[in-house]
Amino acid sequence: MKYFVANWKMHKTYIEAFEFLEHFKNVPIGLNECVIIAPSFTLLWPISKSMGELKIKLSAQNMYCEDKGAYTGETSPIHLKDCNVEFVIIGHSERRNLFHEDDELISKKLKKAFEYNITPIFCIGETLEQRKNNLTFDVISKQLSIGLSKLTESEIYKIIFAYEPVWAIGTGINATPNQAEEVHEFIKSFLQKNFFKNEDINVKILYGGSVTPNNIKDLMSISKIDGVLVGGASLIPDSFERIIKFNRE
Ligand code: 13P
Repeated sequence: MKYFVANWKMHKTYIEAFEFLEHFKNVPIGLNECVIIAPSFTLLWPISKSMGELKIKLSAQNMYCEDKGAYTGETSPIHLKDCNVEFVIIGHSERRNLFHEDDELISKKLKKAFEYNITPIFCIGETLEQRKNNLTFDVISKQLSIGLSKLTESEIYKIIFAYEPVWAIGTGINATPNQAEEVHEFIKSFLQKNFFKNEDINVKILYGGSVTPNNIKDLMSISKIDGVLVGGASLIPDSFERIIKFNRE
């Protein structure tokens, strides 16, 4: 299965979102393709009611780690279930850096998502400074160790991991296939060593950061890549369609 996730971030009005969905009515989605869109919270409900025959699945961009209570401005997994949300992005670098989410909070969110049977798309990745200082693997190890600390082996197996180097997000500078492959391999072996001691487990790992119709083919050619998490290029229906169809052109 290959995953194509559109993270719309804080973009798209109601009308723009429905124009996008209208476009995708004519885009066939293969049996081994999983297409997911992550719109803003306010769009989850109307979109969930209008999916019809569309094979696109819904993700939230975030959620809180409690069921309910006095948490003004937060969104609980119960609200996401109301909207038939199947996936939730957790630990995006914009949440970590702009909204100061730390690994501890992220680990609680991951645990809570599983309580509600929502599959987390768990983002990890290093900044440019960390990469320059040869800290990439240390940073990723810490994000994984603390982030996954509350989960069972079978929960970890269900996670969709997303390697998103912070320096590649929204910059137009994607990781080279070699750079992505090196980190994907590291994530896989780290998980194997620390969480799946008894069995050889095939975790799902996506790449995110300046993915476009022009570089998708190269990125998807690396061995351990199960799909992509796309920001900017997912806002334009035609370019997201070309990303999904990278192998058919
Ligand atoms: P861009 O594709 O705009 O670089 O964003 C990547 C991203 O943050 C997806 O979650």
